Amino acid sequence: MRFATTRQIRYGRVIMTETLQADPAGMARAAELLRDGRLVAFGTETVYGLGADATNADAVAAIFLAKGRPRFNPLICHYPSAQAAFMDVVADARAESVARAFWPGPLTVILPRRPGCAVALLTGAGLDTLGVRVPDHPVANLLLRQAGRAIAAPSANRSGHISPTSAAHVLDGLDGRIDAVLDSGPCAVGVESTVLDLSGPIPILLRPGGVSLESLEACLGPVQRGAPIGGEALRSPGLLASHYAPNLPVRLDAVSAAEDEALLAFGPSPPGGRCVFQLSESGSTAEAAARLFQGLRWLDAEGARLGAARIAVMPVPDAGLGAAINDRLRRAAAPRDPIGAEEID
Ligand code: TXA
Ligand code: MG
Repeated sequence: MRFATTRQIRYGRVIMTETLQADPAGMARAAELLRDGRLVAFGTETVYGLGADATNADAVAAIFLAKGRPRFNPLICHYPSAQAAFMDVVADARAESVARAFWPGPLTVILPRRPGCAVALLTGAGLDTLGVRVPDHPVANLLLRQAGRAIAAPSANRSGHISPTSAAHVLDGLDGRIDAVLDSGPCAVGVESTVLDLSGPIPILLRPGGVSLESLEACLGPVQRGAPIGGEALRSPGLLASHYAPNLPVRLDAVSAAEDEALLAFGPSPPGGRCVFQLSESGSTAEAAARLFQGLRWLDAEGARLGAARIAVMPVPDAGLGAAINDRLRRAAAPRDPIGAEEID
């Protein structure tokens, strides 16, 4: 166990962020903290989540505070099994079939809350629906079992920043603001879960993610695309345009890098630029997804150090995980609305 040096007053007490290893002692401590209403970041197959007891409104409120998220955007709940998830929401035949096909895995399903469900209303921002997910990660699964209750967890980053795919990324943004991070190594998928709304008659894709639209449609039939990012009829409050933002501006569809640019490459990279981060030399979207947030963070730091003016991004095909990658890249490149950017996750 390592104690971080950063300290901060929260609710009048000093917080030292513990780094816990994914061994029996570390996991027992993480579960104990969660049951005690504390904030524990933990790894999943997608990104690290900032976990809290979803049935404890004070603990959930502390998530918003730690992330610096000024508005109550609904959080998703994590469970060790579909059976546990479906105790809190009403699952119809469509939900049962996506659960069989994709859980455990990177899919969040929005369903009506069950009457009398113990999840705090704040977790779902007062909506009558709840996002539920069963992560495909042995450490997360065991932690969720040990915690013995629904765990709310948005990505473990400061509001408007890049999602973390390692314990070090979590500490970059939240050291001193949360009780612990459970280190389970880098995340294999690297982009967040796909968010699928099954609360109405037509399945709606609210966020592309680790499960591709093609495989959802193979299971469910046609799935409607959600409102475009930043669109008027935004159904998922967290999906505002300017998100996943590095500090440097982002230029998309770059075929080459200018002398003053840092390059995010996909496939063979052209010469030029101050520095290069290769997402996937061989052109694999799965490899690129796993490396995306790490690459944006690295270019942001290294580019700034070398005086780069912006990050140039080579095109990534839309197939498979490419759709999720391009969604995140478009958000990273979207104009920075100083108010809107603060209002998101
Ligand atoms: O992969 C992931 O999903 C990660 C890991 C930690 O599980 N979590 C994550 O959570 O990305 P978060 O809060 O960053 O994103 C959840 C998204 C948000 O855009 C939120 O607005 C939307 O799901 N959402 C949650 N509950 C909803 C609801 N009841 N109706 C519509 N959208 C909802
Ligand atoms: Mg997030």
